[in-house]
Amino acid sequence: MEDISFNVNGKRTSVSAEPSTPLLWVIREKLGLTGTKYGCGIAACGACTVHVDGIATRSCVTPVSDVSGKKVTTIEGLSENGDHPLQKAWVQEQVPQCGYCQSGQIMQAAELLAKKGNPTRQEIVEHMNGVLCRCATYYRIIKAIESAATGRKP
Ligand code: FES
Ligand code: FES
Repeated sequence: MEDISFNVNGKRTSVSAEPSTPLLWVIREKLGLTGTKYGCGIAACGACTVHVDGIATRSCVTPVSDVSGKKVTTIEGLSENGDHPLQKAWVQEQVPQCGYCQSGQIMQAAELLAKKGNPTRQEIVEHMNGVLCRCATYYRIIKAIESAATGRKP
């Protein structure tokens, strides 16, 4: 075990863990932030996506030692009151079905909007490629990202 320090959602955090422990399990089990989901464990679905220093990262394959000294943002820290433009658009467009994949979808989309305020549909599709939704909410996801980008009202 090692003490590993990093910043999570704006708070300095230190955990005692094996350095190879996936960040996902540290986030969920040690920090109690269960909005980030386990889907595949092999970086193939995107359900576990968080930001590490602003980069969308699959936490299931990221050893916790890799984030030492870095800034991790989970869905719980994306906004203070659930009022990030994407979160509002997700509600507006009623995106989720079962909901399981949705925090990963939002974190992946948030990376795009942080870099590019008004992406084209093609850029959205390419950026979201690889974040899977078994309920096939893809059309609404794209619509919500477009809506968040433009500030369009329903
Ligand atoms: S659980 Fe990490 S990509 Fe599927
Ligand atoms: S909403 Fe069910 S898996 Fe995406």
